[in-house]
Amino acid sequence: MKLKLSVNGSDKETDLDPDMPLLWVLRDVMGLTGTKFGCGKALCGACTVHLDGAAVRSCVTPIRAADGRKITTIEGLSADGTHPLQKAWVTFGVPQCGFCQTGQIMTAAALLKEKGKPTDKEIAEAMSGNLCRCGTYTRIRDAIKKVAQESKA
Ligand code: FES
Ligand code: FES
Repeated sequence: MKLKLSVNGSDKETDLDPDMPLLWVLRDVMGLTGTKFGCGKALCGACTVHLDGAAVRSCVTPIRAADGRKITTIEGLSADGTHPLQKAWVTFGVPQCGFCQTGQIMTAAALLKEKGKPTDKEIAEAMSGNLCRCGTYTRIRDAIKKVAQESKA
């Protein structure tokens, strides 16, 4: 059974096992290593990508669930790292070790796409499943709030 994976705007047909987790295909087959493997159990958020614009945990998403849908990874969030969140991340010096940050940005990007100006509570709720061992939570929140404040939505 062939599946069509549309990743960052380019379509690829594959006959890989439909139950293979999307994260494996992105990292090991397509070489898109910006998305990280943390827990493998939908508990940490490191593997977050967008499926039709919504944030999903790619470690527990079988590729059959992504068939024919639009997948966006951190590599496709912007052409050159200039998504407003990426710029805010630099401004606030958010990352420490950096391991969780792809997932943090992808979750925040999905939130801001859905609600241009989320409340503090909405930000906290949306980001609550993305863990950071380095404790960069305050800077993450500040960066998201800055982008939300500057958003026209
Ligand atoms: S690696 Fe997917 S949620 Fe942790
Ligand atoms: S920056 Fe190290 S885990 Fe978040």
